[in-house]
Amino acid sequence: MQIIIYDNAQQVAQSAAQWVKELINKKPDPVLGLATGSTPISLYKELVAQYTAGQLSFKNVSTFNLDEYHQIDPANPQSYRSFMHQNLFKHVDIDTNNTSLPTCAVGENPRTQGLAYEQKIKQAGGIDLQILGIGGNGHIGFNEPTSSLSSRTRIKTLTQQTISDNSRLFKQGEVQPTMAMTMGIATIMDARYVVLMATGASKAQAVKEMITGGVSAMCPASALQMHENAIVLLDQAAASELGEKNYYQWANNENRKLIEDYGYFHNY
Ligand code: GLP
Repeated sequence: MQIIIYDNAQQVAQSAAQWVKELINKKPDPVLGLATGSTPISLYKELVAQYTAGQLSFKNVSTFNLDEYHQIDPANPQSYRSFMHQNLFKHVDIDTNNTSLPTCAVGENPRTQGLAYEQKIKQAGGIDLQILGIGGNGHIGFNEPTSSLSSRTRIKTLTQQTISDNSRLFKQGEVQPTMAMTMGIATIMDARYVVLMATGASKAQAVKEMITGGVSAMCPASALQMHENAIVLLDQAAASELGEKNYYQWANNENRKLIEDYGYFHNY
């Protein structure tokens, strides 16, 4: 894992945007894995700003989102399709035919839908760069604690903690789904690069467990310890429980020097 600690959430977003930009500029047919939640909103703002300034084009980009609520109408403002439309897709030149979410509509079979999503990712050539947030309980996507580390796209029942963490996003009277389709942990592990963003003190404990705890299904994000190219971008608050901050800082300074001497190593 490469752990990079920034002074604030804005710098985390700028750094994540830099990863996306580098992929888009390097590969003619980039495949980007996207996340929802509050954390990546600032990343999407940054990408929209760069697009508007003419520095970035999404014309050839394909995207796969991590998750989507079960049986939700895509037009529902609470759907992750709507989230992506509002925060990114409608502002940039992406072809929405090339944007996918793991949907499962009323009457569709979650198992078949999960397998089809896996197939679609494979057909696109696999995910080059997967953006991730982290839940307060260590979940990635909607892979809740106890999710198999070998899991693939499937339906999951959300934990009470996740339902209550996300209840802030629902207005009174709005139905909050309790089940979702999500990429599995093995699906995420297949991405060539993974960039996880975590900001705020409410993530500090989960971040600590992900980085310094044992690899365990009880902290699904800890599976990233087994990923060859996992980059963790933190603000000071999210990093506050970590004990080796000086080492991470030093290692990153050394890495920067290596990049100056040899260029980026990223191999998409
Ligand atoms: C959500 C999503 C995750 C996200 C996490 C944290 O429920 N399924 O992909 O990373 O919870 O969200 P937030 O960034 O709002 O804290």
